Amino acid sequence: MIQPTLDAPTLDAPTLAGKHVLLGLSGGIACYKTAELTRLLVKAGATVQVVMTAAAEQFITAVTMQALSSRPVVTSQWDAREPNNMAHINLSRAADVMLVAPASADFIAKLVQGRADDLLSLTALARPTQTCPLLVAPAMNREMWAHPATQRNVAQLLADGAHLLGPGNGSQACGETGDGRMLEASELLEELIAFFQPKWLAGHKVLVTAGPTFEPIDPVRGITNHSSGKMGFAIARAAREAGAEVTLVAGPVHLTTPRGVRRIDVQTAQQMFDAVLPLAPAHAVFVATAAVADWRPAQVLEHKIKKDHKPGASTAPPMISMTENPDILAAVAALSPGPYCVGFAAESRDLLKHAREKLLRKKIPLIAANLGPATFGRDDNTLLLVDAHSERELPTNDKLSLARELIREIASRL
Ligand code: CTP
Repeated sequence: MIQPTLDAPTLDAPTLAGKHVLLGLSGGIACYKTAELTRLLVKAGATVQVVMTAAAEQFITAVTMQALSSRPVVTSQWDAREPNNMAHINLSRAADVMLVAPASADFIAKLVQGRADDLLSLTALARPTQTCPLLVAPAMNREMWAHPATQRNVAQLLADGAHLLGPGNGSQACGETGDGRMLEASELLEELIAFFQPKWLAGHKVLVTAGPTFEPIDPVRGITNHSSGKMGFAIARAAREAGAEVTLVAGPVHLTTPRGVRRIDVQTAQQMFDAVLPLAPAHAVFVATAAVADWRPAQVLEHKIKKDHKPGASTAPPMISMTENPDILAAVAALSPGPYCVGFAAESRDLLKHAREKLLRKKIPLIAANLGPATFGRDDNTLLLVDAHSERELPTNDKLSLARELIREIASRL
């Protein structure tokens, strides 16, 4: 039976509503990204209290950070504005999380040693670890990042309970290329949002298909559909946020891979089948959101089909004979042992009737039905969850919020 999840978090609220973020900047050129991050955090509903080291103030001004956070920036443990003159205590008691971005090599070393000779390191040391977890986004030159001293420090920082965000890889301000770039502001935001999500699927592996398939007719033409892949990508993201190790097999779509998700790109239904089947047995959950083409041209022509332009030539259109594609979901559902399978049904009418038929035909325990034409390409959707005994509507919401609800529902059934 599908029971309403009464204590489900409010999912239509801004994603960081009610969260108070203590945002620490140490010295590094990546401070410019933290300005953008502050904007994104505020936009997502968080309150942001900025703390800067003297080195950070060499790269960006406290005025900029105050304007973006709408709060006075704190830079000194001797700040007389605090009534009790204990900024380090007050700041960390009020916060839901402390994020140091950028975290320089020097600042990471200070955290590891428990040194407390500036306000930011003092606050990190004084924070209650249970209520104010520490997230660290390193930013430094690749040689500094790769140095055994830094690697030793990072390992110790993790052992002490901190969480590492990044670093990224790419071209660096110094002109070199490698590991050590601070993650982009949007990536840090995604990581922070994920950090606050309940870990319903910790330790589980989830496999997701998404997007349309493209079935070629000749080298320049093919058959596809309107699926944008957004629902499947949202499910992959929600599963990863919930602590799962996620593999996403995607048809041709132009979407950014959710952070921390392994992506395999395919074009055709057969390629999707070939990618999914060997992986499926090692997964606890399989969510088939892909709009897989039911048929493909029986033969893919080597060269483009040309019109015959000769005077008097036949104008009859070419006949394309079709053959059926394998049913990926039904094949995974038949595996024993196999993952817990969740299907999607994109219909244009009679949602419940078709969903029930598909549940039985594909021998799956749960299906999410939606009206395809009403949702293809859009950012919101309405789902009807159908199992053998009951159905429950997930009312219209953005796709990520729906995906989180679906993941919670799946987790409750494992
Ligand atoms: N599916 C699949 N492989 C296929 C066809 C569908 O894995 N070859 C999966 C879809 O990803 C979805 C579910 O099966 O989770 C239902 O897909 P849908 O196209 O709605 O159903 P069909 O079985 O193709 O039935 P019909 O086209 O007649 O509605």
